[in-house]
Amino acid sequence: MESNYNSHVKRIILGLVIFAAVGLIGKKFMTPDSFGMYGHYRADAIQEEADRDIRHKTNMPCLPCHTYEAGLHLNGLHKTISCEFCHGPMADHVTNGIKTGELPVKKGEEIRVLCLRCHNKAIHARPEDVIKTVIMPDHLRDQNVKETHTCNQCHHVHAPYDYINQAKQALGVKEAS
Ligand code: HEC
Ligand code: HEC
Ligand code: HEC
Ligand code: HEC
Repeated sequence: MESNYNSHVKRIILGLVIFAAVGLIGKKFMTPDSFGMYGHYRADAIQEEADRDIRHKTNMPCLPCHTYEAGLHLNGLHKTISCEFCHGPMADHVTNGIKTGELPVKKGEEIRVLCLRCHNKAIHARPEDVIKTVIMPDHLRDQNVKETHTCNQCHHVHAPYDYINQAKQALGVKEAS
């Protein structure tokens, strides 16, 4: 009588063959048409990305409509900062040159969070010579104010030394040279 001793091996091989066949057929049906046209990716993806609506702009298109903020921003230490970083994308606000939506305006505690995204000393990736940082609440203690003060009570958000320089002028404080 022939031995059935290795039938389990045959079953495993049959299983693997079926598995490979299903895989190969599946790959044929499920690979997108443009895959591999230029390389190991879907060629259509390039066009799809290029066709996306533009959501962000530079600061330039904001300025003619917001002359008051523009005047402050362009002359302040934040002139290199994008309006959109703090306010959100142009696309949510203006379409074809007309205001179509409201941008959120941060206030109180939200402003502290916003400012500290860039000015927090705890973020060690920000060297002091590139961007000045502060520690909270020490920065407020140094000014002898309550810890509930928000940044914009002393710093103009659009020109951070505006109020402080005005206050110094009013008090006759001279800068140490
Ligand atoms: C560093 C973050 C920051 C940048 C950069 C910034 N803003 Fe603001 N902006 C704020 C915050 C916070 C407020 C609300 C609090 C305040 O006015 O003190 C505000 C208020 C405003 C308001 C008044 C909104 C209202 O209804 O009270 C306008 C308009 C505005 N910004 C436009 C601009 C424009 C235009 C630019 C770019 C030229 C700009 N902002 C750049 C943070 C910023
Ligand atoms: C076509 C003109 C126009 C452009 C361009 C424009 N805005 Fe405005 N924006 C307005 C008007 C009108 C208002 C409502 C009146 C006001 O607050 O001055 C407004 C209001 C705002 C407000 C207050 C919240 C709100 O939506 O009412 C913020 C913040 C703001 N704009 C930021 C910006 C930023 C940042 C840009 C550039 C990315 C920008 N705006 C571009 C016309 C414009
Ligand atoms: C996107 C990052 C960013 C955000 C958000 C931001 N700042 Fe700034 N800030 C800067 C940079 C960059 C400079 C330095 C500009 C320079 O020196 O040319 C600066 C400068 C300053 C300075 C002057 C320090 C100095 O001597 O250089 C103060 C004060 C300041 N910011 C306060 C604030 C306050 C308050 C807020 C919140 C309303 C805020 N910043 C939000 C990036 C940011
Ligand atoms: C009570 C007023 C007050 C408040 C509130 C305040 N600051 Fe200041 N800040 C100052 C003064 C004053 C200076 C120093 C100006 C000088 O030396 O000429 C300063 C300086 C800075 C500097 C520059 C530090 C340096 O090393 O030169 C940064 C950055 C700054 N503040 C960020 C912030 C941020 C972010 C907040 C909110 C979390 C905030 N400040 C809240 C008054 C204040």
